[in-house]
Amino acid sequence: MEPVVALVVAAGSGSRLGGDIPKALRELDGRPLVSHSLEGLAAGGVDVAVIVIAPGLDDDFAAVVAGSPIPARCVQGGAERQDSVLNGLAAIAADPDLAGARYVLVHDAARALVPGEVVRRVIAALADGAVAAIPVLPVVDTIREVTATGSATVDRSRLRAVQTPQGFARDVLERAHRLVADEGLQVTDDAAAVEALGYPVALVPGDREALKVTEPLDLLFAEAIVRSHA
Ligand code: C5P
Repeated sequence: MEPVVALVVAAGSGSRLGGDIPKALRELDGRPLVSHSLEGLAAGGVDVAVIVIAPGLDDDFAAVVAGSPIPARCVQGGAERQDSVLNGLAAIAADPDLAGARYVLVHDAARALVPGEVVRRVIAALADGAVAAIPVLPVVDTIREVTATGSATVDRSRLRAVQTPQGFARDVLERAHRLVADEGLQVTDDAAAVEALGYPVALVPGDREALKVTEPLDLLFAEAIVRSHA
């Protein structure tokens, strides 16, 4: 069977979280955020991980790679998240062990506590024939859209908050990211890139525990979640 590959994007600076080490290496319960992510991905059925990191940080990530529950290697990221994904996809294509992979799951390292069950749902949707499958949650807050003249309430029953890992047929994701790069489009996630290519995106249930650690308060929530599992 072809390996299921995860592209773990970890090349962001994490400036909103503060601190002087890259966010993916910030510790949660004594281990880097990215190490927790690798565990969730492995528990959900991912076979191999390619971690996309900022230039010059290979030594800093060496212990993460050595302690990974699945084979993992690092590649260099780019200026924007979408550049990092493109670099990761190129590394997968160039690796003879991974070039046969049919599916790629792109995961934000900062969603450290993603439950294996969410990963499993994404892979199952791909196995059922989806070209793109992403975990989502209903929106709990009332949302207002700022307009030219003031603001207006948006019908939240039609909205979903998007998480990762986002799973794709690898060839489609490659084409989508090439399109985004060639046309100079800005996308905040990979589903938007695939959508730009005209493909539908399947939705599977996400999980609140897969929160993206972005600000200091998120780290407190994540610590509480880890304690609740102990
Ligand atoms: O900035 P944002 O929260 O959207 O970043 C989401 C994920 O993308 C993070 O895991 C971050 O490390 C990664 N990223 C990246 N390369 C960049 C910017 C962000 O891999 N240039």
